[in-house]
Amino acid sequence: MKIKIDADRRGGKISKYLYGQFAEHLGRCIYEGLYVGEDSDIPNTNGMRNDVVNALKELEIPVLRWPGGCFADDYHWRDGIGEKSKRPYMVNTNWGGVVENNHFGTHEFFELCEQLGCEPYICGNVGSGTVQEMRDWIEYMTFDGDSPLANERRKNGREKPWKLKFFGIGNENWGCGGNMRPEYYCDLYRRFTVFIRDYGDEPVYKIAGGPNADDANWTETLMQNIRNCTSAISLHNYTHETDWKHRGMAADFDREGWYGIMSDAMRVDENIKLHSAIMDRYDPEKKIGLLVDEWGTWYEVEPGTNPGFLYQQNTMRDAVAGMLIIHMFHAHSDRVRMANIAQMVNVLQAMVLTEGDKMLLTPTYHLFKMMKGHKDGTAVDVCYDKKEYEFKGRKVPKISISATEKGGKITVSICNTSIDEGDEITFETDKSVSGVTMYSENMTDCNTFDEPEKIKPRNADITSDGGAVTVKIKPASVTVLTLE
Ligand code: AHR
Repeated sequence: MKIKIDADRRGGKISKYLYGQFAEHLGRCIYEGLYVGEDSDIPNTNGMRNDVVNALKELEIPVLRWPGGCFADDYHWRDGIGEKSKRPYMVNTNWGGVVENNHFGTHEFFELCEQLGCEPYICGNVGSGTVQEMRDWIEYMTFDGDSPLANERRKNGREKPWKLKFFGIGNENWGCGGNMRPEYYCDLYRRFTVFIRDYGDEPVYKIAGGPNADDANWTETLMQNIRNCTSAISLHNYTHETDWKHRGMAADFDREGWYGIMSDAMRVDENIKLHSAIMDRYDPEKKIGLLVDEWGTWYEVEPGTNPGFLYQQNTMRDAVAGMLIIHMFHAHSDRVRMANIAQMVNVLQAMVLTEGDKMLLTPTYHLFKMMKGHKDGTAVDVCYDKKEYEFKGRKVPKISISATEKGGKITVSICNTSIDEGDEITFETDKSVSGVTMYSENMTDCNTFDEPEKIKPRNADITSDGGAVTVKIKPASVTVLTLE
């Protein structure tokens, strides 16, 4: 297939925040996955496991959302500060009914962000919390002056306030966050946000709990009632083989399962368009962001694991669907200002899986590492034949390509959603071209603790003849080229 990369035709900025992550108190994401405590035999720095943090640092994560998810609307921040042995326990009713000891709280979250070099995004509790609790949390974290809350923070070991730009006012308040009607949520939102004060240098970027998937009425009601007091609204959209009831298994699937995920991934595009069109009517200048702050593949849990822990494996199907969806975020970057894949470690479409002191990197981890060059680049036009196939009533591009430019370097990412056919991409350029690609022998291959490097990126098959470049594309693969 011949493509044309036209570096003179530029689009908008591709925000680095489209590559955000999400870590919830769910299963083994925080505990075991990220935080093992200072006394653990697993090498750690202030309780954070060194192997996982070092691997994640390589991704240059821009932003991390915490503490939930559904957990956020059940979380009371005061339980997670002060001396660890005195912190009250709670039952994590959303996720497996396990006992949470609150050893990972506000200070530990900011410590993790500092170790990862990312910005924090905290989601507050509207469902079971109070206005006062939320206002106090903000003051505790961000006030530099002499106040009882700021002094309590100092007593707990943090002299200077933290920088906190992104703050969510509840999570999925149509469901686990309070089972609210949108009108009721809007009234609460208006009240809560009055008390979210700007103590820091920058105003707090306030994120309203947005719709589930295609719930247009939720978005319409939010835009009618809170558009003057919100910076953004969130959107949650997960991908399944067929639907929520037929989620399939992560590493045990057939052709239908492969194409089912590709087809369902296209719902992300449909839903972004649906909600953007509503937002455009009320906010034509696109001041309000749509943040897809939970997305990713969601399967049945691995056999023998706690159903409430959402632990799943990860194959090339996830990496390919991941790139396809990230390209949608690129395409809609005028409205979509942030996206957070769910979740960072051991939960859903994770970057990293752990077992005791062992750790492995998933194909999705490698995808995020391969895509690094796109962050904060400017979209560049690529012309190509957008050949599509149809599966379960949706059109899916066989090949999806996105290109950006930053500092004279062009990054081109290409995913092949077909397990049946490879491709050969040809184009003209006067720059030198290098690249990496990732594919597996069998579509259900995955990295395991016995074979942790079965799937990993390798050099792309590129040939150059003068200015004519040919790149061989395997079926079911992701490839990223750099032109410099
Ligand atoms: O990511 C897992 C869960 O999915 C989150 O807690 C919730 O917000 C969503 O339903």
